[in-house]
Amino acid sequence: MTWAAITGWGACMPPAVLTNADLSTILDTSDEWITTRTGMKERRVSHVSAMQLSTVATRRALACAGLDAGDVEMIIYGSCSYEEQVPNAASGVQAAIGANRAAAMDLNTACTSFLYGLSTATAMIRTGVIKNAVVIGVELISRYMDWSNRNVAVLFGDGAAAVVLQASDTESGVIGSVLGCDAEAREVLRVRGIGCGYAGRGIMLGDTAWDFDGPAIFKRAVKAMSEASGRVLEGAGKTGADVDLVVPHQANLRIIEGVAKYAGIPMEKVMLTVERYGNMSAATVPVALVEALEAGRVKPGSLLLMPGFGGGLTWASLLVKWGERVTPTGVSDVALPAPTKTALEMVHEIRASQDPHGRSAAALATPFVA
Ligand code: UT7
Repeated sequence: MTWAAITGWGACMPPAVLTNADLSTILDTSDEWITTRTGMKERRVSHVSAMQLSTVATRRALACAGLDAGDVEMIIYGSCSYEEQVPNAASGVQAAIGANRAAAMDLNTACTSFLYGLSTATAMIRTGVIKNAVVIGVELISRYMDWSNRNVAVLFGDGAAAVVLQASDTESGVIGSVLGCDAEAREVLRVRGIGCGYAGRGIMLGDTAWDFDGPAIFKRAVKAMSEASGRVLEGAGKTGADVDLVVPHQANLRIIEGVAKYAGIPMEKVMLTVERYGNMSAATVPVALVEALEAGRVKPGSLLLMPGFGGGLTWASLLVKWGERVTPTGVSDVALPAPTKTALEMVHEIRASQDPHGRSAAALATPFVA
């Protein structure tokens, strides 16, 4: 039987930090509110494109795996922040790293894009379509955030990470996937203003209005992630007690606590990044995975549970059995250029170029209806 081992991993976090105190200078909010309601203290704002973040993360993951870019067979770019619709973003990473033999696919299920991508790539390797793949989770939400809306602006951050999967005869990698979508609730999380359904309305580029029913998303997220985790564990003949580490989507500390409690897993066995990075959508799980490996929290043979949810409302829970190697084969010296502005300065610039409640207000007032 063929498995799809995770043999490489690499993150690329933009260095500019936006603190709760920074946010309280531009919004009617406070460190106390954000910390108690979400567990977040800081998030990152990128000074480079999502494709650049992805390229650095991918180079690091390939060096970690010891795989040449020229041997990569598939690149899956999981994201909902696309700089362009055509050509796709995966092809941009392919060109940047010189992966001349690769197929290249973008995959958007919002915050679960990495988990859906990991499941897809695993299936393709296990069925012999490809022998290896790079799966990226990346997000650059700062560019289309409605920075005047405190309900959403405090929650999200930018970041990227990638993993390399390679065919293996030994049982490892994703050993169980449960995927689904609570489409009945697709209206509770919508970003109005991006996508061709909004073309011709006179919306200024980057102006968005967010439909975001936090409490509704919260309840459905806990339920979906908990049930999916229960099902994926049951399918593999495991229980919460068998899990060595939970690497969850990080939208809210209270959501993570609810899911861990349902699965009967103590919080000491949960990898948390939400305090430092906020919700990076598709990038949260892979960044947390990379940091768990770097912190020595993944051991040879560890059983990892990866639950997530996002716009759609898509949800997923993956069970991963780690292989023998928990240290990189090699290290890439590739790095981002240093930012010349602080995170708050970048946010001020983005805000100055946006005016969703002015110029674009009427055009954003109604959502796209198919
Ligand atoms: O990855 C998928 C993305 N989505 C999510 O993960 C969202 C899941 N939901 C959540 O995490 C939580 O629902 C939130 C953190 C978004 C909100 O927490 P909550 O405890 O559900 O608060 P709430 O929405 O019920 O709002 C409570 C109050 C409201 O004021 P009133 O109506 O009680 O006077 C809000 O206007 O808090 C107010 N509020 C804020 N106050 C200060 C909302 N945002 C802020 C803010 N600062 N940033």
